Amino acid sequence: MDKLIIEGGAPLKGTVEVSGSKNSLLPILAATLLTRDKCVIKNAPDLRDTVSMLRLLRYLGSNYEFKDHRIVIKPNGSSEIEAPYKLVSTMRASFCVLGPLLARYGRAKVSLPGGCIIGVRPVDLHLKGLAKLGAKITIREGYAHAETKHLKGGHIYLGGPFGSSVLATGNVMMAAALARGTTIIESAACEPEVVDLARFLIKMGARIKGEGSPCIEITGVKELHGAEYEVIPDRIEAATLVMAAAITRGEVMVRGARAEHMTAVLEKLKDVGVNLKISKEGILVKKTARKFKPFDIVTLPYPGFPTDAQAQFMTLMSITEGISVITEKIYPDRFMHVAELNRMGAQIKREGPYAVVHGIKQLSAAPVMASDLRASAGLVLAGLVARGKTEVHRIYHLDRGYERLDFKLQRLGARIERARE
Ligand code: EPZ
Repeated sequence: MDKLIIEGGAPLKGTVEVSGSKNSLLPILAATLLTRDKCVIKNAPDLRDTVSMLRLLRYLGSNYEFKDHRIVIKPNGSSEIEAPYKLVSTMRASFCVLGPLLARYGRAKVSLPGGCIIGVRPVDLHLKGLAKLGAKITIREGYAHAETKHLKGGHIYLGGPFGSSVLATGNVMMAAALARGTTIIESAACEPEVVDLARFLIKMGARIKGEGSPCIEITGVKELHGAEYEVIPDRIEAATLVMAAAITRGEVMVRGARAEHMTAVLEKLKDVGVNLKISKEGILVKKTARKFKPFDIVTLPYPGFPTDAQAQFMTLMSITEGISVITEKIYPDRFMHVAELNRMGAQIKREGPYAVVHGIKQLSAAPVMASDLRASAGLVLAGLVARGKTEVHRIYHLDRGYERLDFKLQRLGARIERARE
């Protein structure tokens, strides 16, 4: 296992490229199961999660090549319909092979993903949506067993207790693409990654309208053909890089960032006093000596403030004098980073889905433990500004969703290095 050793105090300077979106790529890779043809996916980020999904697809009978952020993938004709626990349990997004397998082969056996550190993470909405398309689903020994003579379009309400579901919307949309008749998904997720998946399916010949709105209409077709597609830039990595520049009082061009995918985050950072200049090239974080102001956030489904940027924002607020309240409405337990930041001297109190942050002048270095992908990013940002050398342990969490973040930060002048545990 690796750890990161970060010596705080260096303002970041220069230009950094945003990688392709992990949360776009993963469902798009699952969608390649819907055709016998070859697909080419470009701007694919080189991540642990990318490799995990490709391994699952190989197990399910696809051959692939992954080089220079380009994936060429083609089913090899075998039709394995079981996604085993050992492959699905490492990455929840694997569950979105269920819809494509069901649509292609009429049956599927997919391990339930189980919970993870940020929450229970049920899949009831996925199962409800697929059942509405005519699938008969039973849960046995930790697996979802699904079968159908043929899927037929239906009117599906996919809203859950925490709002819409990104991957459930994707799972149902992929299955509906090959169902007979028309499907309406109400309370669909509006995330840019759902729009990206819809656009890839449309390039494969699917008939979809309303993607990006809470109501998506899919008219099933007989079959889908191969397609070539470039995934969007990763808006969460971009937000993380913008906040890294802001918290270190640096001046950084986050090249390739799509501001229109990040409105809630950018508006909030402007409220805080971060000096941003948006252009076609990306987002320029300009140096500012202005005192930042504390601000509250509530995480919500898109276009609200993304839960995946909550930990990073909390780190910024931990050294912003005053009081800010962070309300986590998507994963009420997503606060593993609070205890770790408090070990660095932060004054954060967690009360259920709320975290009350009393900003202090400066964090101090300490050995800390990464727990999930985005908490790890929050701890890296803390290390960039803490007095002394911070060690962030178990950074395999970070490598799941950030392409060589340590290297990108080093190139911007951060004193950060990777070492073996
Ligand atoms: C996607 O997960 C992202 N992952 C997550 O990013 C992100 O945090 C999440 O959306 C919310 O934006 C990928 O896209 C691979 P949800 P997903 O279904 O689709 C509840 C990261 O760091 N829910 O939108 O699994 C659920 O418990 C990861 O990159 C149900 O109740 O999340 C949560 O409270 C972490 N029943 C809320 O809905 C269900 O069947 C939103 O979850 C499904 C979800």
